[in-house]
Amino acid sequence: MKIAVIYGSVRQNRQGIRVAKYIVNQLNERGMDNTLVDAMDHQLPFLDKMYKEYKGDAPEEIENVHQIFESVDGFIIVSGEYNHGLPPALKNLLDHYQSEYHFKPSGLVTYSAGMFGGVRAAMHLRAVTSELGMPSVPTTFPVPSVGKNFDEEGNTDNEHIARGFDRFLKEFVWYTEALKAKRDTDGKP
Ligand SMILES: Cc1cc2nc3c(=O)[nH]c(=O)nc-3n(C[C@H](O)[C@H](O)[C@H](O)COP(=O)(O)O)c2cc1C
Repeated sequence: MKIAVIYGSVRQNRQGIRVAKYIVNQLNERGMDNTLVDAMDHQLPFLDKMYKEYKGDAPEEIENVHQIFESVDGFIIVSGEYNHGLPPALKNLLDHYQSEYHFKPSGLVTYSAGMFGGVRAAMHLRAVTSELGMPSVPTTFPVPSVGKNFDEEGNTDNEHIARGFDRFLKEFVWYTEALKAKRDTDGKP
């Protein structure tokens, strides 16, 4: 089972990278195969054509992300909340792809500088991920006060956060394994 962790803030002073690092560290500690897809590292152009529209002739960076998304069994999306919606680089990255997501689950991790943990962005993401064919698992993982709760390496001493992540991950893994087993036996419809 392989997981893509998608993170989409490209601000110079971005804080959510702390949460993305936390997730990656947690998956590594549990021996779970994962890849961080950071929009800062994968600088996709503003959407012109979707991957499929390049018909095998996509620019290198668009191709690289396609290969990763195609190879994974589930997506953990780490999203900030910009004006109650998604960060634009995250939406831009997600919109480039389609069939890569199909019949695989997503898990929604949101964060904010304030106390609400990006829950309004999570509600947008529910709609977006459903349309993309990677419906989100019920439990979300909202992280408030991101700059205070995590250091730059993604460590936290907040036990409430650690417990919340554990609950979220157990459920996400359950759905990821279930859908993988079904794809392995029956393929995609
Ligand atoms: C353009 C913009 C809009 C924002 N809108 C919200 C918002 O609607 N709700 C909120 O809780 N925080 C909002 N914030 C504050 C973010 O929660 C905080 O800056 C967070 O660190 C952004 O994620 P990033 O650092 O990974 O880019 C906003 C920040 C920016 C830059």
